[in-house]
Amino acid sequence: MLYGADYNPDQWPEEVWDEDVRLMQEAGVNIVSLGIFAWSRIQPAEDVWDFEWLDTVIGKLHAGGIAVNLATATASPPPWVSATYPETLPADESGASYWPGSRQHFAPSSPTYRRLAGELVRRLAERYAHHPAVVMWHVGNEFGCHLWMDFSDAARDAYRVWLADRYTTIAALNDAWGTSFWSQRYGSFDEIFPPRLAPYSHNPSSMLDWRRFTSDMLLECYLMERTILLEAGATQPITTNFMGPFKPADYRKWAPHMDVIADDCYPDPANPNRVRDAAFQRDLIRSLKPGVPWLLWEQATDAVNWRPANPGKKPGALMAETAQSVARGADGIMFFQWRQSRAGSEKFHSAMLPHAGTETRTWDAVTELGSRLAALPELPAPGRDAHVALVFDWENWWAVEERDHPTEIDYLALTLEWYGAFHERGIQVDVIAPEEAGLGYALVVAPALYLLRGEGADALTRFVETGGTLLTGPFTDLVDGHDQFRDGGFLTQLAPVLGVRFEDFGALAGTASSAAGVGALNSDAVAAARHAAASGTIEFALDGAVHRGRLVAESVHTTTATTVATFRSGLQAGSPALTRHSFGDGEAWYTATQPVGDGLGAVVDAVVAASGVRPVVDSLPAGVEAARRGDLVTLINHGDARAEVAIEGVDAETGAVTALVALEPQAVAFVLAPERAPAPVPGPRDAVAAH
Ligand code: GLA
Repeated sequence: MLYGADYNPDQWPEEVWDEDVRLMQEAGVNIVSLGIFAWSRIQPAEDVWDFEWLDTVIGKLHAGGIAVNLATATASPPPWVSATYPETLPADESGASYWPGSRQHFAPSSPTYRRLAGELVRRLAERYAHHPAVVMWHVGNEFGCHLWMDFSDAARDAYRVWLADRYTTIAALNDAWGTSFWSQRYGSFDEIFPPRLAPYSHNPSSMLDWRRFTSDMLLECYLMERTILLEAGATQPITTNFMGPFKPADYRKWAPHMDVIADDCYPDPANPNRVRDAAFQRDLIRSLKPGVPWLLWEQATDAVNWRPANPGKKPGALMAETAQSVARGADGIMFFQWRQSRAGSEKFHSAMLPHAGTETRTWDAVTELGSRLAALPELPAPGRDAHVALVFDWENWWAVEERDHPTEIDYLALTLEWYGAFHERGIQVDVIAPEEAGLGYALVVAPALYLLRGEGADALTRFVETGGTLLTGPFTDLVDGHDQFRDGGFLTQLAPVLGVRFEDFGALAGTASSAAGVGALNSDAVAAARHAAASGTIEFALDGAVHRGRLVAESVHTTTATTVATFRSGLQAGSPALTRHSFGDGEAWYTATQPVGDGLGAVVDAVVAASGVRPVVDSLPAGVEAARRGDLVTLINHGDARAEVAIEGVDAETGAVTALVALEPQAVAFVLAPERAPAPVPGPRDAVAAH
């Protein structure tokens, strides 16, 4: 179990470094991510290099038995780079430059940035690739974190090349983007610009490619550095830190290039859904490399500095949050950062070693956590523990949230609603691409899968044919990979599986106001008005109970499916709200609205019963989370009251046999308890289509 933090000794005089190492040992730290923002210290001017301080720090850490995850330091170019090479600066939608003075002020597609960053990485790699202290490489930092898109001239030039690579001919691009609409037909790739500020909606097919391009440019930066490290003979694992469900970067496409997945997670103490949201993030991250443990690369020991208000964590919450990562597959627990900064934007951000020193609640918490993690027995690799998979797909995320749709969908929020219903029931979930359906899951849930690639539709179809249960809808299987309707309109791929015919969307309107219309699209007031306009609901009846749905009440006709629930109000009264259909050896369900609250629970209960999936632990008390990792079941009481969980097994820390585990608020128990029922028969691994 790795335990440690980002370490920024370049912010401190050398006298502090020995104390750092001593206190790291006291806290149980065994690894640090070193020098993430140290470019200006390593290369203070274009032709001046200073590695001596780094040699000294690495030497001290090594002597102290602390391993180094060495950063490539490329995330924040020094002032001389921006001053000498302004072409490295990114630009916003209106073409205005982002200026230096913060961090991440580089255009990912700038050849000059890449040349300078590449040179830095090459020198670091040549110097430290064979250093015994260096056990891992940390490339860049949180790629794209602050700058979701770059509209600079460097991006323009790279975008044209990227498009020419993708389409070869401009005719193919015109076809893919449907440019006959609004006189957008291009004569050559040189006529194409990034989607800079325009009077009205950009072409949605072009926006989808722009999103792909943006993700690819960030990935290219990572891959460039990775290649340089490998060429210099580095044999250590190479990674960068992800940010969970981060819209600008399609991490599923990145994952094969990471030797190990590392993730940063900062649950907001003020978010009532923080446990659910963090659990989803960890399940998503684990699912990026099935069967391989991941690393929690950054979390906060206490308060952060970057939300409008930054409360600290409840006593015990640090252990509870950490246990959630371990439970869901993490083999390393790290913090931002080791020693709290005394200057700069993050001087109020908590750290392992606070300004107030070691006589603090934080220090007690991190030392206790360090020793508890160190005492854990070797953890099983995350296995094929989930029998439910939730589809969450980046391309769909980009496309479904484009403008000018029947209604506005927040895809992540909607996915989290579905995830939450399973999480509440203690049912373990993997988070997959549609192409990964199969793989031994009993139930696949694919909500709002507006953009459904052919390979994804094939995998879902095969999954049902071979005995799986699929729940999908609403607003699903509408467009292809270019955000265009296929011939035949809607549900063109899944209709036979679902046994329904789709007629129309039936968007549910809330209170409309003129502010929500076309016009000024950028103010918060307009955003709120647009949200209110899209917040209508509709009633549907399921098993004698009346529930509500939101977003849409689609007009769906059963062809060979059975109606399970019916709309009770609105224009669609009497038409199916939920359908069920036998297909091959399995079953496919379609929901024609996004159920809310109890309605969502009722739909989930129905498909859980139909597919036979079971929770990790039966009768889990409210507030208690349970997750399985091979034979290890982790129980976490996030609630405010003492809870008891019946589970037969062996306490992994004490070796005691368990029957009833008592958990105080925020308490955690690790129980070795092999799974009771055999998992459903796994499908062939090679069923995963390349994405
Ligand atoms: C991110 C960054 C860190 C630091 C933390 C603060 O995760 O990677 O450098 O800024 O946020 O929470």
